[in-house]
Amino acid sequence: MENSGKFKRILVTAALPYTNGDIHLGHIAGAYLPPDMYVRYLRLAGYNVVFICGSDEHGTAIEMSAIKEGVSPQVIIDKYHFANKKAYEDLGIKYDIYSRTSTETHKKTSQDFFKVLNDKGLLYQKTEKQLYSEKEKRFLADRFVIGTCPVCGFEEARGDECENCGSALSPLELKNPRSTITGDTPVVKESTHFYFPLSKFQAMLEEWINSKPDWKPNVVNYCKGWFKTGLQDRAITRDLDWGVPVPLEGYDGKVIYVWFEAPIGYISITKELFEQEGNPEGWKDYWCKDDTKLVHFVGKDNIIFHAIFFPAMLMAHGDFVLADNVPANEFLNFEGGKLSKSRGHSIAVKDAVSRFNPDSVRYALATSLPENKDTDFYWKDLQAKNNNELGAILGNFVNRTFVFAEKYFEGTVPAAGEYKEIDSIIINSIKSYSSSIASYYENYKFKDAVSETMNLVRDANKYFNDTEPWKAVKEDIARCGTIINTCLQLCRSFAVLFYPVLPFSSEKLFRMLNISSEGETWESAAELKLHAGHKLNKPEILFRKIEDSEIEQ
Ligand code: 2FM
Ligand code: ZN
Repeated sequence: MENSGKFKRILVTAALPYTNGDIHLGHIAGAYLPPDMYVRYLRLAGYNVVFICGSDEHGTAIEMSAIKEGVSPQVIIDKYHFANKKAYEDLGIKYDIYSRTSTETHKKTSQDFFKVLNDKGLLYQKTEKQLYSEKEKRFLADRFVIGTCPVCGFEEARGDECENCGSALSPLELKNPRSTITGDTPVVKESTHFYFPLSKFQAMLEEWINSKPDWKPNVVNYCKGWFKTGLQDRAITRDLDWGVPVPLEGYDGKVIYVWFEAPIGYISITKELFEQEGNPEGWKDYWCKDDTKLVHFVGKDNIIFHAIFFPAMLMAHGDFVLADNVPANEFLNFEGGKLSKSRGHSIAVKDAVSRFNPDSVRYALATSLPENKDTDFYWKDLQAKNNNELGAILGNFVNRTFVFAEKYFEGTVPAAGEYKEIDSIIINSIKSYSSSIASYYENYKFKDAVSETMNLVRDANKYFNDTEPWKAVKEDIARCGTIINTCLQLCRSFAVLFYPVLPFSSEKLFRMLNISSEGETWESAAELKLHAGHKLNKPEILFRKIEDSEIEQ
């Protein structure tokens, strides 16, 4: 179901990562590479798109890292905000803005949001029992407590959610609770908090999700599971020092719950983007008009917040658009274990890109994305995909084409003579491939989009083999010219069609072809734009071979 066309603009968000650790490949496959590919495709296809992300800098995880390292939370967020911003850039994940939730704009936006809901009389307060550490003299919110998950029995479940089964939890639900910092058993004390009446929104949410036939089955099934259990009202304040203060008198020491305030970051970061562009009201087009398509890319652990909690908040507020889709991915397992920071089986982006071509990393991840179920990532796959696909199929085609042009046509584009059927077939196939690839992108089928793109290159290699330019060069140089002209046109098409997944190589290819990528569109991929006599640049190696020794390391 392709629906982008009915919208005037598309706002794409990628989950705001917590800023207490390095971004790793599991995160990338879950929530960052897919939107980057999607946005790159959308831009080529001519859509009006904004792509935003930024650091989620509040929450107990950050406060906890700060306590563990004996520094202030500000030190932690500064370290990882800039490190992660760079990691995304190094991997070619290109946001229009990568901001953070510790800004004044965010503080004001989330406090205003809170006040609107409170003024509407939607929030209520409740005095409740809460875990308190006598030793630390503080309430133990969320991740400051670990214990046994009441749903699946996982013994290391956090106070806010179980990483094993994905259930959203509250600290009091945990069996055998312990303080994460000191390990001592907390006592129960009373504290007053604001609640968001999520249960009241269940019917509206169900109706809304039922109106989304194009949502991925994994996402819809998660939601239906939660509806079946029945949505519970949620406390939206916490007793913490680190966070956005509750914007009302008499609530010192209380902050807005990070899962209430973080998604509002999507709004505040959009505001910042337009402020930077000198159009401070421009964000309203993206958030307040029905002809905006809002798409949230997240990992499965964040589905509940983006498909249920945040939409309910937006419904309650009333001024903003709701997501058109939440194309969440499952998890990527690394070498058979779970690719997660918290369990130590992780590959930081910075480590991957310091060793390998970022496009090879992107391609290896893109072809094993956990779109419908958890998938595994092995270093051996990266090597195989780099050597046997990127190198042996794409690199090889480009290389042999350029070698011919260099050797027999003085490094220029030879003229195309009359086309034979075999030429017309491959030329016409570019158009049909580009529309099938487009449809995969539009439908969030990124793995299929990439393998379909590589299929075109496979066909191109077959074309090269079947037309035997090495024979033609001896027997009929004009015929050889037609073949090499066609192959060079194909190289240009690849530069366009691979741009979503291989942006660096695509730029390199444009450079080798001695043409600019500016002004290229998805549609132009199928045009034969290279003119006879056009001078080419020297060929460069697109994908160097990855040796066994590198993988063993
Ligand atoms: O899972 C995470 O890393 C969260 N910080 C995602 C937040 S997404 C959004 F709501 F801000
Ligand atoms: Zn569990």
